[in-house]
Amino acid sequence: MKTAMSLLGSQGIFSVTEILIALAVFLLIFTVVRSFQQQIPHGLKRLPEPRGYPLIGNVLELGRNPHLSLTQMSQKYGDVMQIRIGTTPVLVLSGLNTIRQALVKQAEDFMGRPDLCSFRYIGDGQSLTFSSDSGEVWRARRKLAQNALKTFSVSPSPTASSTCLLEEHVFKEADYLITELLQQMKEKKSFDAYRYTVISVANVICGICFGRRYSHDDQELLSLVSLNNEFGDVAASGNPADFIPILQYFPSRPMKIFKDLNKRFSAFVHKIVKEHYTTFDKVNKYSEKKIVNLVNDLFGAGFDTVTTALSWSLVYLVTYPDIQKKIQNELDQTIGRERRPKLSDRLMLPYLEAFILETFRHSSFVPFTIPHCTTKDTSLNGYYIPKNLCVFINQWQVNHDETLWKEPSAFNPERFLNAEGTEINRMESDKVLLFGLGKRRCIGESIGKWEIFLFLATLLQQLEFSICDGQKVDTTPQYGLTMKHKKCDNVSLAEEASLLIAYSKNSQLA
Ligand code: HEM
Repeated sequence: MKTAMSLLGSQGIFSVTEILIALAVFLLIFTVVRSFQQQIPHGLKRLPEPRGYPLIGNVLELGRNPHLSLTQMSQKYGDVMQIRIGTTPVLVLSGLNTIRQALVKQAEDFMGRPDLCSFRYIGDGQSLTFSSDSGEVWRARRKLAQNALKTFSVSPSPTASSTCLLEEHVFKEADYLITELLQQMKEKKSFDAYRYTVISVANVICGICFGRRYSHDDQELLSLVSLNNEFGDVAASGNPADFIPILQYFPSRPMKIFKDLNKRFSAFVHKIVKEHYTTFDKVNKYSEKKIVNLVNDLFGAGFDTVTTALSWSLVYLVTYPDIQKKIQNELDQTIGRERRPKLSDRLMLPYLEAFILETFRHSSFVPFTIPHCTTKDTSLNGYYIPKNLCVFINQWQVNHDETLWKEPSAFNPERFLNAEGTEINRMESDKVLLFGLGKRRCIGESIGKWEIFLFLATLLQQLEFSICDGQKVDTTPQYGLTMKHKKCDNVSLAEEASLLIAYSKNSQLA
């Protein structure tokens, strides 16, 4: 250090300016040489790339909302482009056809997960979802998780009032949620819907995984699940610390919270799995650690995504009361108030279905899939793509693409209905991209959609949501792995709610 310092200053050999100029020239030459190093096979093109700054690449252009800035860049550079975060190249895919080509038709080439530093802290680095393993072990664990979800969701329920276990758990939790919200209305005249929904959704997963539930005041569960987006901020696509190694050595509060949260989450799941093992035989060939990490994945993926979807749904319902009325009329006409909505009612409630699809599309609350990486040298749309390249898939861009959607920024459930309003137009619904595609496609898609449908149908059959007088909901999404809206603790229930308490009480855990 002393020697280095002696090079500086008036007695040094070089001035500070000279050293900085030399450094800049070196970096420039280094970048130019490196970009010419990559050999492009004959007949293929080099990936188009916006110009970036030395050392930081395109970090500044990514800004606070990478889904928006990358959508804008894709208009100039195309569906297949490369950016740099620091000096690390990242492939960015946009456009539904291009994404289908990569993830479905060339599924094997694009199914990997990059080895990102933040992902190593999730599930002790052994997460099914985030770890860089995409080989035989990953395949077997994914199959095991898919089978477990299928068994628990569609298995017949022991109670006569539900057709399957998932229905039974959602019914029970929706009832508790309604009681809790009515109680909050009585005491405080308004509530933060997210705070209560998150416990209900977490309880459905706990019921499915462990056969137990927690009270809405359970502090341990609350402290794990009601953090705003401390997980999603760090695990989101484009976190500079994942790509610029030196940043990992700087103290970072979000990273500290993230590490701590992952540890607490694993410990929580471990504790329940252990308790569960004392009452059930260990009848599988996987180590306890592997099971804990798998349950960790299902629990983590299951509660955050579904709660965020429900929370956005409530925000749209209070923002567009006419849409809420239409859903309630449909429920009244199709189901009435004498019985609960069931999964088998889905086809008979096209407007509610269209509302859910429009909530998915408009909020695009999972703006990118979890990052992928290429498993071998390949090509896409005539561009050469090397092995081990990190890939961002811009779901938000697809859901707001003007070539696919009329007035994409308008919230309009009708866009998914046929002319008579009696059926979902499958050509339209298939264009919504929120669960990824291909070999890494979400394994909880059906469960997630069923849960959202059942919760919304049950809540809206009994309650009418509104926003407190004179208040507005801020619907600006906050960027993350899952995007949340700003905290909103002034959701309220309309007067008619009290008329429905009797029904709600009668139906409690029937
Ligand atoms: C509305 C609800 C949900 C949404 C929007 C959603 C979305 C996603 C997305 C975008 C991915 C990444 C796909 C990719 O990388 O290409 C994913 C993966 C995953 N999801 Fe979901 N998800 C939801 C619900 C669930 C539920 C309820 C569960 C389980 C109970 C679940 C379990 C998983 C798992 C295990 C993966 C990792 C798959 C893998 O890497 O092979 N998800 N999800």
